[in-house]
Amino acid sequence: MKSSLKNLRELILESIKVAGFESGLNEIQLAQTKTLEHGHFSTNIAMLLANKYGKRPQEVAESIKAELEKESVFTKVEIAGPGFINVLVEQNFYTTVCQAIVNSLDDYLEEELDLESNKKTVVIEYSSPNIAKPLGAHHLLSTIIGDSLAQLFRRYSYKVIAENYPGDMGTQFGKLIYAIRTWGDESTIEKEPIDELLKLYVRFHNEAEKDPSLEDFGRTEYKKFEEGDAENRKMWEKIVDWTFADIQPLYDRLGIRFDAVHGESFFEDKMEAVLKEGRSKGVFVDGEKGSWIVMPDDPKDPPALVKKSDGTTLYLTRDLAQVEFFEKEYHPDLMVWAVDVAQSFHFNQRFQVARKLKLTGAELKHVEFGRMQFKDGAMSTRKGNIIKLKEVLDEAVERSVALIEQKGAGLSDAEKQELARIMGIGAVKYNILHQNRVSNITFDWDQMLSMEGNSAPYLMYTVARAKSILRKAEIKVDDTEKYELSLNSSHETQVALGVIGFAEALKRAVEEFKPNHIANYLYHLAQSFNAFYNALPVLKAESKEKETRLLLIASVIQVMETAFGLLGLEVPEKM
Ligand code: ARG
Repeated sequence: MKSSLKNLRELILESIKVAGFESGLNEIQLAQTKTLEHGHFSTNIAMLLANKYGKRPQEVAESIKAELEKESVFTKVEIAGPGFINVLVEQNFYTTVCQAIVNSLDDYLEEELDLESNKKTVVIEYSSPNIAKPLGAHHLLSTIIGDSLAQLFRRYSYKVIAENYPGDMGTQFGKLIYAIRTWGDESTIEKEPIDELLKLYVRFHNEAEKDPSLEDFGRTEYKKFEEGDAENRKMWEKIVDWTFADIQPLYDRLGIRFDAVHGESFFEDKMEAVLKEGRSKGVFVDGEKGSWIVMPDDPKDPPALVKKSDGTTLYLTRDLAQVEFFEKEYHPDLMVWAVDVAQSFHFNQRFQVARKLKLTGAELKHVEFGRMQFKDGAMSTRKGNIIKLKEVLDEAVERSVALIEQKGAGLSDAEKQELARIMGIGAVKYNILHQNRVSNITFDWDQMLSMEGNSAPYLMYTVARAKSILRKAEIKVDDTEKYELSLNSSHETQVALGVIGFAEALKRAVEEFKPNHIANYLYHLAQSFNAFYNALPVLKAESKEKETRLLLIASVIQVMETAFGLLGLEVPEKM
């Protein structure tokens, strides 16, 4: 028998059948017990069945227990509380799992999570900054959360298409084109594109307050652009390129990459088809003054506007064209958008209309997240939600340098620089990813760069520690592949259980679109590991114990490195 939690669950299901119950389930819940006194895993299945059969839970549990006791993998079976069945699992099981993990985590996960049967395609849109504007806090959140989701789905065997959808349309371009021609200097813009463009934009607004006719000039330029005027098209292209010249280095520093970039403008010529389709299907009906609307499912909601009375299209219209494009281009099973909760009304409306139009059979998911809140004056110099990501990253790296100096481990200057980069960028990402995205995300320098708390530096320190033990033992992770576990201390067992919990954490993170399950998993594993490390010698231990501990350490490294990757964190070699 292969050792996996999946097998344990199947075994329990089998025992239930033999005991004479029909659970009707494909899978049962098997939770890790909080403390080891009550076994390693616990299931509430007897209580569920008792309900179904109108029997006493204890009685049901007793008959299942009798079957489970025949299985050698369970060394102890106990009934607890109102009818929980707790099982203690034999050592061999853990040995096989850890050996599989150090040998190939990929193969192990595939087996444990049945990934072969799960080959699906997902399109994930994230980041989607607005051209000629600094990144807003919500763009940073979307970028980091979306990238982590892309990693999670990749690890879950999905084919992932990471899409960026820059906001490169809108009347602000007419104003900018006018402002650049009137007051701008291209060589100055090239040096600090986003700052300069923002200045010009602000200037336009200030001047327009004094002389409202400027608004008309702006509108005229935009209209010319829309009608295909060559010079305005060219200027627009420049503005897009300048903006990306500013943003790309930030993506590079964050290690963010996309498979495709299809901005709003890409959908300009694809809306007509959607409009026609909606019309012919009778979904787009006449609204006021020649506009087109879609009636809502819930009569309390307002209708959705897809074409204005002046004939122009909307954000929603473009977003419908995007769904149609994703469907035709990728045939995905799932489409995901990592976008601010402030747009949830828009997304609901969009999904409703897309379904009415039958644009796709894919599942449509808005992964929403809350606001960024800045703690105790962190970033207080910034107004509103506009942040300068470059400054945040620079400061995070600087603060990491200070932290590393304090710790003072024997690193060369180059090593310190590299570590500060990994730690600083990692801290910013982890700070976002470890929080439950549905509530507001707090930005707190102290917490983010603490060596003790739930932070990237703490986790990095933990892996670096684990790695240094293997270095001192002069072995590599996969050298431990034949080692056997003999778990005698609860510290060791906790680490083994921690390692085994990874697959579940991954599954949950994917199913709920929540990277924080991986973060919290990592934090708990790091705590178990550090307790183990502080309590037990490794290199000086007797040979059997030494083998046990080295295999555990190697498993921890393997799992942590992978989990780091899921959060977009790099792994430091030394700290
Ligand atoms: N650019 C938009 C903004 O900054 C976000 C785009 C979200 N994606 C979408 N398909 N609507 O608010």
